[in-house]
Amino acid sequence: MLDLNSRRRDFDGFDGRVYLNTAAEGIPPKVVGESLQQYFRDKQLGMDGRIPHFEQWEQAKAEAAKMLGFEPEEIGLCSCTSEAFNLLSLALQLQTGDEVVVNELDFPAGITPWLQPTCPATVRRWKASDNRLVATDMQSLLSSKTRLVTLSLVSFYNGFTVSLEETIATIRKNSPAMIAVDVTQALGRIPLKLDGVDFVVSSTHKWILSSHGGGIVAIPKSMRDRIQVPAGGWLHIEDAFGPKRFEKATSKFGAAGFSVGMPNFPAVYALRAALNFMNQVGIARIDDVCRPMMEACYPGLKKLPIEMLTPPEPTAWAGIIAFRHPDAERLHRSLHQQNIHVMHQAGRMRVAIHGYNTMDDVEQFLTALKAELSKK
Ligand SMILES: Cc1ncc(COP(=O)(O)O)c(C=O)c1O
Repeated sequence: MLDLNSRRRDFDGFDGRVYLNTAAEGIPPKVVGESLQQYFRDKQLGMDGRIPHFEQWEQAKAEAAKMLGFEPEEIGLCSCTSEAFNLLSLALQLQTGDEVVVNELDFPAGITPWLQPTCPATVRRWKASDNRLVATDMQSLLSSKTRLVTLSLVSFYNGFTVSLEETIATIRKNSPAMIAVDVTQALGRIPLKLDGVDFVVSSTHKWILSSHGGGIVAIPKSMRDRIQVPAGGWLHIEDAFGPKRFEKATSKFGAAGFSVGMPNFPAVYALRAALNFMNQVGIARIDDVCRPMMEACYPGLKKLPIEMLTPPEPTAWAGIIAFRHPDAERLHRSLHQQNIHVMHQAGRMRVAIHGYNTMDDVEQFLTALKAELSKK
């Protein structure tokens, strides 16, 4: 991370490969591999292994709290972002007449729970204008009926980074809605300031460089008593094995309610190790190292015959730049053959720049793309 020497020391597998696809899958540092081996050793202890398993659980929450700017007791762990949103939808118990605001730049995990036939709320769509989400465009969607506004801080689609302060102020002024923010494409890449957010969620396999099978939930103390997940299970149930267990089930309030059964401990070990690694490197330093690469990549792409999907203003950037080209599939294939890894989907290509990338990665990518675009 941050330079070639530490990249060689802390990671395997970058030699000869230009990896610009962290928005899909982060490359875990070696310490994450070691933590998974530790899990295996602890698992061999049988039930005694639960002591180190739950120690890792507590430490993972503490590391997540540090990175998110929350207290450890405000953090919960589950298995993925989708699971967290589904449990939130249970907790909200929306009724006919309630409204939920989603937006056009968001990932399906934050949109589809409210579109299920079992959800009686009306979904309102915050439209993107010119590939941006502008707070004033949402104003007319908000009212006393709005129960939830859900958005990603950084869009998976084009990397557009929402102005959170302005968005929160608009929502607060025009509705009593709860504000849920998915930070999957931001956490580990840019420093976060999440004041005023009611519900935070993140996947773990991208910019924080952990494994699959993890989900982080953060709920501030001020919201704790308003979020209680009415799901079955045991870990989140008060006195689940007590004498009243056949009479009632009471879920814990707040983030603890999002861990319903035996945790995915391999993912927890990986998460603790990855977050500890990233907290030591420092997210502000990662962002500082990445800015010049973003500032070189964007104008480099702008000169090429492609349609940019990421707006030009650097204040709206995190780590993603996306563009469109009719030959995206061919371009992607050819870059991949040269061991240059970016993402493509339905004509859209996406580049992701993280702290383990170098200016050389950016230059190799731009040179190869330019050469491919000139072929026909
Ligand atoms: C913003 C965002 N949220 C969530 C996810 C993934 O959700 P889940 O953890 O449920 O797979 C992604 C990408 O895969 C994403 O880009």
